[in-house]
Amino acid sequence: MSELQEYGGKATMEKITSLAKRRGFVFQSSEIYGGQNGAWDYGPLGIELKNRIAGAWWKEMTRLHDNIAGLDAAILMHPRTWEASWHVENCTDPLVYCKKCKSRFRADMIPEENLSAKKCPDCGGELTDTRKFNLMFKSHIGPAEDTASVIYLRPETAQGIYVNYKNIIQSNRMKIPFGIAQIGKAFRNEIVTKNFIFRTCEFEQMEMQYFVKPGTDEEWFNEWRRQRWAYYKKLGVKMDHLRWHQHGKDELAHYAKDAYDIEYLFPMGWRELEGVHNRTDYDLGRHAQFSGKDMQYIDQDNNNERYIPYIIETSAGLTRNVLMILCDAYDEEQVAEKGNAGTEGSADDWRTVLRFHPDLAPVTAAILPLMKKDGLAEMAQDIRKELQDDYATDYDQSGAIGRRYRRQDEAGTPFCITVDYQSKEDGTVTLRFRDSMEQVRVPRAELAVRLRQEIKSYKRIK
Ligand code: GAP
Repeated sequence: MSELQEYGGKATMEKITSLAKRRGFVFQSSEIYGGQNGAWDYGPLGIELKNRIAGAWWKEMTRLHDNIAGLDAAILMHPRTWEASWHVENCTDPLVYCKKCKSRFRADMIPEENLSAKKCPDCGGELTDTRKFNLMFKSHIGPAEDTASVIYLRPETAQGIYVNYKNIIQSNRMKIPFGIAQIGKAFRNEIVTKNFIFRTCEFEQMEMQYFVKPGTDEEWFNEWRRQRWAYYKKLGVKMDHLRWHQHGKDELAHYAKDAYDIEYLFPMGWRELEGVHNRTDYDLGRHAQFSGKDMQYIDQDNNNERYIPYIIETSAGLTRNVLMILCDAYDEEQVAEKGNAGTEGSADDWRTVLRFHPDLAPVTAAILPLMKKDGLAEMAQDIRKELQDDYATDYDQSGAIGRRYRRQDEAGTPFCITVDYQSKEDGTVTLRFRDSMEQVRVPRAELAVRLRQEIKSYKRIK
């Protein structure tokens, strides 16, 4: 069975990209100028989805752990940071050019026979020798463009955490083991940026660095692997679309003693979603060396024992998680559904539905008056006002009710609340569930509580 068949054959990158644009999740950057490669804009639904994913991760890491503190470090850091981290020397991709068609390739991404014969996979022209290409964006700060003014856009958020580790120990009286979590932008001058928002030049990371005593690192490494796996399960991700990949000796980063990727089965195949790395004492040791500052931890509970902590890192792409959640939620199905206004669809009716976990859905509940007239619109607006303090809501009064349900399905809205003539008589409304398309009548006064219960007890059915 091919990976796409295994995938269900439903979500393709073309469908996801087109839905994302049509519904305002993600737009191409600077589209009116022909687009900017490697950069994307998050539209009204996209920013809500990205914020929810970031919020779920932040809650998991900080609120649910007493010993993990948050940080938001600057993107611009002292350039010595990147010498210490070895990025100036080592944040590189192997690059080859075709002398004939001028295409650029990552040498590790083209067939071995093309590389050894120096033959372009596109046009058969001659390839250059492999060159190292640094992925860091370089600029200058201040008025003079000299070597003293060089500044880099950070290629990972992690270093902002390492340089602040002593500040956080002091300000928050942290004791080992403890962690620091951060979400923020990172930039890499990627050679290959295809597959929509999968690999981009500007992206966001959600990184947590956990500082542990040397010798306990393997234990914590395994514990964080366990926790990160459990996290995706809690989000309702299809677990058969996730797998572990341990880095072989030739894949391990310069700092790593051990590393595992969590890979997701994207429409183009299995790809990295997040990495869990045992970074040893490499980073703090290098910062001690380059800054001249003592980066040792003093264990006051243990005769002031001093050591450079080992670091277990969990590093996930936020924007890559957005793509994963879109692919994971995407479904198409043939439906025949009864709306409370009569037949909503027929047997040849198809719908596209995003089965987001309600905690991640950009809109939690859409309020739909069956008709604009006879006071139904006013009642629906009132209900929206009652709910909008606690829930992300939408209001839609245009078009047939069945079509409005489809629009909400496509945006991934888990609940629709329909106000009809019966609502005026007995104060009940229809609550429609996105996944099952079932409808129940609920007293208007109970809506807020009922939604909370439904969100808490949500179980993905497909
Ligand atoms: N601090 C470790 C680190 O940055 P990485 O494996 O290079 O490790 C971690 O990156 C995660 O960041 C990846 O698993 C991926 O989700 C995301 N990521 C890395 N490069 C990316 C890019 N160019 N575009 C989108 N996401 C990226």
